[in-house]
Amino acid sequence: MTASTSNDDHPSRMGHIPEFVTTPSAPPIFQTTAFDVPDLNTLAELYQGTAHGYVYTRDSNPNHTALGKSISDLEHAESAAVFASGMGAIAAVALTLGAAGDHVIVARSLYGITLKLMARLQQQFGMTITYVDACNPTEVADAVQSNTRFCMIETVSNPLLEVADIAAIAKALGDIPLVVDSTFTTPVLIRPLEHGAAVVVHSASKYLNGHGDVMLGVAAGDAKTMKSVRETSSVFGQNANPFECWLTQRGLRTLPLRMTQVCQTTNRLAEWLNGHPAVSKVYHPTLPSHATYAVAQKLYPQGVGGIIAFTLPGGGKAAVNDFMIAAKSIPFSPTLADSRTTVSHPATTSHGFMTKAARLELGITDELIRLSVGLEPFELLQRELDEALRAVVQVEG
Ligand SMILES: Cc1ncc(COP(=O)(O)O)c(C=O)c1O
Repeated sequence: MTASTSNDDHPSRMGHIPEFVTTPSAPPIFQTTAFDVPDLNTLAELYQGTAHGYVYTRDSNPNHTALGKSISDLEHAESAAVFASGMGAIAAVALTLGAAGDHVIVARSLYGITLKLMARLQQQFGMTITYVDACNPTEVADAVQSNTRFCMIETVSNPLLEVADIAAIAKALGDIPLVVDSTFTTPVLIRPLEHGAAVVVHSASKYLNGHGDVMLGVAAGDAKTMKSVRETSSVFGQNANPFECWLTQRGLRTLPLRMTQVCQTTNRLAEWLNGHPAVSKVYHPTLPSHATYAVAQKLYPQGVGGIIAFTLPGGGKAAVNDFMIAAKSIPFSPTLADSRTTVSHPATTSHGFMTKAARLELGITDELIRLSVGLEPFELLQRELDEALRAVVQVEG
């Protein structure tokens, strides 16, 4: 008889960790599909909530709970849930709060794929939508109908960085839940629930994780709403992978440090770019020329994160392409909030699915470049950007 025929060392039984009296200094990853349940009585108790435990990772997993607890602490929320991506979080919240026949108010200038999702709610799920300017609370109040179920805005719009006055919008909505995407700002810069939002969502693929190696979403709010959102997420299969939760949990340890550094560098770069002869316009809320400078001063004393949008003085996509090639050490990457500084072109990435006319109505021209400032020193980025700008735009001096 060979060893492999023994029941104890059959490959399907291998890999279980022994018991030990110490605890790991870093949280373990519970990379498991399911959890072994002692018996049927315990299963019943788990389902009733009289025993604490986990059954199936699509519903819940200790890494979901651990990250959810950190997010609720950071957002000062009763509860938080985790999802396979930022879009998973937004979709789960939208499908929980709204149903066929309901009305939804949506900010006109959201992340492109969120706008696409909202269009689907209308086309496939039978909701009606009114698009509004999130910087105009009166327009929001005027959009309210008897069947309005929620309103969706971003703390700072993508890519032109228009800052919403969350408290004014929440007031305009009365009891209607306000859902705020705070991906660009994080709880280090603002806690939307404290300004009257009902639910805050994030693409944790961005600053919360902060290292450009995770796809994850989170949502936080009151316990009852989040319980329903979790149920939606389980049914639609939007739940997060334990490993991604673990990586994000690790990323959160440095979130305040990273956000402080990113804001400092970004504020300086925005001011410098604003005076650069090869740049025709800079969109950043710390600049007095920005449309929402006053609200930004009130809500974001540190800064509004690491995104700067700016335009070249002409040349369309070709000029942007030349700039990207010239900016050799600043990669073109259609994401943001990596620890590295990256550059993107909203007209062909996040808002590429729109017609040119619709994009121009939002102010997204072909010459618009979006910079996501990372953790490199200011002087390094200044030098690299200056060289790339001067390589594509003829300027004197
Ligand atoms: C503001 C904002 N919200 C949501 C998302 C979607 O997040 P994810 O890519 O994690 O699905 C993004 C992605 O870029 C975003 O920028």
